[in-house]
Amino acid sequence: MNFEIRDEGDAAVIALSGDIDLESSPKVRTALLDCVGMKQLVVVDMSAVAYIDSSGVASLVETITGGQVFLRILSNLTDRALARAEVAIPVKNLEGKGFTGEAVRDGIILACDLATVDPYRATTHNKGVMNGVDAVAVATGNDWRALEAAAHAYAARSGQYRSLTRWYKNKAGDLVGEIEMPLKVGTVGGSLETNPTVRINHRLLGSPGASELAQVMATVGLAQNFGALRALSTDGIQQGHMTLHARSVATTAGVPETLFETVVEGLIESGEIKVWKAQELVKTLSSNHTAKTSDEPRSAACGKVILLGEHAVVYGRHAIAAPIPLAVEAKVKDADEGIHLLIPRWGVEQRIRRPEEHPAGVAGILAMVLHELDLDDRTMEIEVFPHIPRAMGLGGSSALSVAIIRALDHHFDLGLDPVRINGLAFKCEKAAHGTPSGIDNTVATYGKPIVYSNQETPSFSDLALGAPLPLVIAISGKESLTADLVARVAAGKQRHPERYERLFNEIDALTVSAADAIAKGNLTELGELMNLNHGLLNALQLSTPELESLVHICRSKGAVGAKLTGGGGGGSVVALCPEDSDAVVNAVQHAGYQALKVVLGEVDGA
Ligand code: MEV
Repeated sequence: MNFEIRDEGDAAVIALSGDIDLESSPKVRTALLDCVGMKQLVVVDMSAVAYIDSSGVASLVETITGGQVFLRILSNLTDRALARAEVAIPVKNLEGKGFTGEAVRDGIILACDLATVDPYRATTHNKGVMNGVDAVAVATGNDWRALEAAAHAYAARSGQYRSLTRWYKNKAGDLVGEIEMPLKVGTVGGSLETNPTVRINHRLLGSPGASELAQVMATVGLAQNFGALRALSTDGIQQGHMTLHARSVATTAGVPETLFETVVEGLIESGEIKVWKAQELVKTLSSNHTAKTSDEPRSAACGKVILLGEHAVVYGRHAIAAPIPLAVEAKVKDADEGIHLLIPRWGVEQRIRRPEEHPAGVAGILAMVLHELDLDDRTMEIEVFPHIPRAMGLGGSSALSVAIIRALDHHFDLGLDPVRINGLAFKCEKAAHGTPSGIDNTVATYGKPIVYSNQETPSFSDLALGAPLPLVIAISGKESLTADLVARVAAGKQRHPERYERLFNEIDALTVSAADAIAKGNLTELGELMNLNHGLLNALQLSTPELESLVHICRSKGAVGAKLTGGGGGGSVVALCPEDSDAVVNAVQHAGYQALKVVLGEVDGA
């Protein structure tokens, strides 16, 4: 390696040549600083320091400059090791929390623009980016403080501290995000060798090289920034805080996992989000399984399990459904301003805006209900407590609508009868699903086993039970949207109308026979009919590997019938288990799934 001092006008610069190609090696940078009242200092940048230490460069520099090598320290401003990441998000995917995709996109762009011009905002903005970057740095044994220092110095490179990210709209109207920041990271040495967790984390990431790891960090930083900006420009981060706060209080109080969600709900419902309250709730729940957190009663609605006939019922055929009691509870409380919806267990915490502002999703449906009930101008907090998982084919959305409508009815003393409640809940289903048959809202409202059909107008009759029906509901854990599955069947029917009509007629015939078998208490026959119905639903391509596996587990443990229930494509399986339903429950749980026991027509106390 050779060194020479070049005279570059007002500065003398050390040039290194030989092993290091100055042109292509951006890592070597030298500068001569004229320090007031001191001698002139030569700065040789970062990677050259390694050479200084390892190859006697220090003495060479001293010889060349006639000076003395002073500080031998690398710089953390690693602006020659920049990582970049970019994302384009279709505007329709931004819709949610009651906001249109366009509104969310424009909000994010505006929030980022603000961080470009205002250093106060930029600081918090970049802190959010580093929430993501640092997490990966810590997990992979990298020096997060060095990355922080580099990031903030880089953010101020123009002379003003600015955002590390940029968000804008592309020609298609989609949201595009970019990040560029210095990320000099390592994948070997130090804690990577000594800390087993760090080693595992590297393996979890697929053992990336240094530049790939830097890209991962930049991507996580960008994703974190997106999350924060979306929250800020929609509900505001503050809004999501009550649930977050309750969760962190429950964690501090050491609430066991099995009671965690119930305690979080209890804390929010009581308005006392305190450690002592969490501990009190744990005590109460552990002794009697119900925690009374306030005097206001909750309004309840049933979920449902379809025994036979789903999908065909959308085309005017019969279906048989039974209630899952107390699936969702809701309560309305007075609030000082606005209308707020809180579903802590599902992570929903949002303000409901008026229908003319076109809120989307659950907020839009709720805004429609409030408008129908002439409650748009009232202020309130609606708290919802679901006891069944969502999107599992168990009628969660209908139960949610009915429980909320009942809670509004109770709080504002509206005098709604079941027909009106059911009609409103049907409207909610239409808004959520497009073309529902109406079976889910009917079971949610009336809470009894029914035979249902909707030929021109919805009608149902009570299901006569010749014997109790011991059912096990096996939950796959894979969420599915009924609207998507109904649309999938509709598309198939459009391509092959006669073929699909024949399948629907077959399903209808099985359903009608099943109502007869249920009335006679013939469970073996009912099981057989359920199995055949599952075959036809499978023919409609509504099953999944998980559902097939659950059907197999249930049947192999003695269920006389097992089939997917509800929309399919994920969701749940219902099994008829006259012999040993516990064996079925255990086998399902042993395979890693959730199971629920429901006995229809069981005499109280039996
Ligand atoms: C959803 O629970 C049942 C379907 O038949 C749809 C409906 O009836 O609205 C798949």
